Amino acid sequence: MKNLLIVYHSKNGKNRSMATAVLEGARHDDIEGVVVRFKTAPEAGADDLLWADGLILGTPENFGYMSGALKDFFDRTFYEVEGQVEGRPYCIFVGSGNDGQGAVASIQRICKGYKFREVLPPLIIVGDMSDDSPGLCRELGMGMAAGLDAGIF
Ligand SMILES: Cc1cc2nc3c(=O)[nH]c(=O)nc-3n(C[C@H](O)[C@H](O)[C@H](O)COP(=O)(O)O)c2cc1C
Repeated sequence: MKNLLIVYHSKNGKNRSMATAVLEGARHDDIEGVVVRFKTAPEAGADDLLWADGLILGTPENFGYMSGALKDFFDRTFYEVEGQVEGRPYCIFVGSGNDGQGAVASIQRICKGYKFREVLPPLIIVGDMSDDSPGLCRELGMGMAAGLDAGIF
């Protein structure tokens, strides 16, 4: 079995909705060899990162950056896992107000420090969720889980 960790932050609910849809995709019936752990950023810690074979990170964009809660997750875990998580595959989703690129870039920069490998393009949903948005989130979760399941990542 492979272990997939989803870590996200949401203040007002949009990124929670996105994360829930990502989780649905990751737990698709066709994927049998992946266990998914679903945590908010304040709940997640170094043990979760050490457990994970791959991870999905989600956040709003706040002031052109990831949320403080997701940044705090990185701050709390970096030295605890340093040298033990190199090469882990990851991908990003961002539910933002009008941009989202700053949140993505800030996560990518920090993930370089952990030596994670980004394996799918970031999903950014700007503004209100549309009818298509849950499906895009499910695709991201399923793509990540399927890649782990198949040993592609
Ligand atoms: C303090 C604050 C700063 C924000 N800064 C940005 C920003 O720089 N770029 C952007 O696109 N949206 C920005 N937003 C909008 C949020 O990213 C957006 O409302 C997001 O959907 C909130 O996600 P949530 O509902 O999961 O909490 C900001 C919101 C807040 C509260």
